[in-house]
Amino acid sequence: MSHAEQFEALDAWLSEYQAVWRARPFVQHRLPWEADWTELSTALRARALEQAEADHGDPHRLDLPAPFPALAATSRRLSRLPDWSSSPPPVPLNLSAHIPGRKWQQIQHFAHITSLTLTEPAAKWVDWCAGKGHLGRLLGWRSAAPVMCLERDRQLNHDGAELSRHWQVCAEHVEADVLAPETWGRLAAEQSVVALHACGDLHATLLRQGAAAGCRQLTLSPCCYNRIASPAYEPMSALGRHAAVSLSREDLGLPLQQTVTAGRRVRALRDRSMAWRLAFDLWQREARGVDEYLPTPSRPESALACGMPAFCRDLAAHHKLALPEPENWAVLEAHGWQRLAIARNLELVQALFRRPLEVWLLLDRALYLEEQGYRVRLGQFCPVELTPRNLILLAERAS
Ligand SMILES: C[S@@+](CC[C@H](N)C(=O)[O-])C[C@H]1O[C@@H](n2cnc3c(N)ncnc32)[C@H](O)[C@@H]1O
Repeated sequence: MSHAEQFEALDAWLSEYQAVWRARPFVQHRLPWEADWTELSTALRARALEQAEADHGDPHRLDLPAPFPALAATSRRLSRLPDWSSSPPPVPLNLSAHIPGRKWQQIQHFAHITSLTLTEPAAKWVDWCAGKGHLGRLLGWRSAAPVMCLERDRQLNHDGAELSRHWQVCAEHVEADVLAPETWGRLAAEQSVVALHACGDLHATLLRQGAAAGCRQLTLSPCCYNRIASPAYEPMSALGRHAAVSLSREDLGLPLQQTVTAGRRVRALRDRSMAWRLAFDLWQREARGVDEYLPTPSRPESALACGMPAFCRDLAAHHKLALPEPENWAVLEAHGWQRLAIARNLELVQALFRRPLEVWLLLDRALYLEEQGYRVRLGQFCPVELTPRNLILLAERAS
């Protein structure tokens, strides 16, 4: 399939099932699709919380009633991209000093694929939203081409410059806001720009301004598609602008729901917080006599130490509600945990649409760059265990 064909197939499928992936298991007590797919609904509602957790990352292989297997197969087929996540060559360990293990592995994979797949060697690297410039430095160290790191955080630039000096990499760490037009003048045709995990508007700006400057190569792995200034997604490509699917900012959060499995302690705290929020939800609906979800604000971990009744009373106070106390807090808490198990299992249906939606967004970017005269390849640069944001877009200006 060409990128345009893959985009159109995904668009038609996502449009057909939008009521399914837009359903919100934590907010709605019955999802619209449950009335049509009763067997699937019953099977999911009977599962335990631990089962939902175990299958969250890869729900596709689950043996569940129709139409789950068919949806899973289509999800896989339409979001398939080449897997380039083979092991990168070793790099001196010291170069990774101060970088968390998973981040360093992502950087090595990204740098490896970038060097491997670009048909012309880079003359000048630009690391867009560079942080301390670890990626740019590794590319510069390997290729001996100079590097310019664009980053708005002064401290990160300062630390990055020290590391570059230490490793004798010719790198300039520039304090710059990449959303500001005066920064765009720094982009030039002879540059190869890389961006690892630049959020929504930050990487969209790179694509627009990099293409306008005619940069010879653009390589990026997007993340946080929902971090945009506009209230809804504004497609970049012509096909995207005529797509059947139109996305709200909330929709753009769906691909981000896949998380790398957290440690046991973090998971336990997250689950308890969610179960208590759902208990509050049951309480407030019942006590107010209004079947409506009320959003709950984030709370520090210490709020969990005060116990479930205090946690729920605090949420009620946040909404300025004076609710009659529940008859039995322990029973309410047990119901909260039950709701959590149900919501997390129903979420597995939505999870089948996460990757297709992400690939739809990536293809919109690829199609845009093709319109601008680039040859574009898409694939996976590292295993999903290192980061679920493991898609990469490699674009080279057609000479
Ligand atoms: C998710 S981090 C990625 C950093 C690095 N590329 C990496 O993968 O380790 C995003 C970086 O973008 C920077 N950033 C955010 N907004 C920016 C802006 N408007 N201009 C320049 N840098 C920005 C942040 O300070 C942060 O260092």
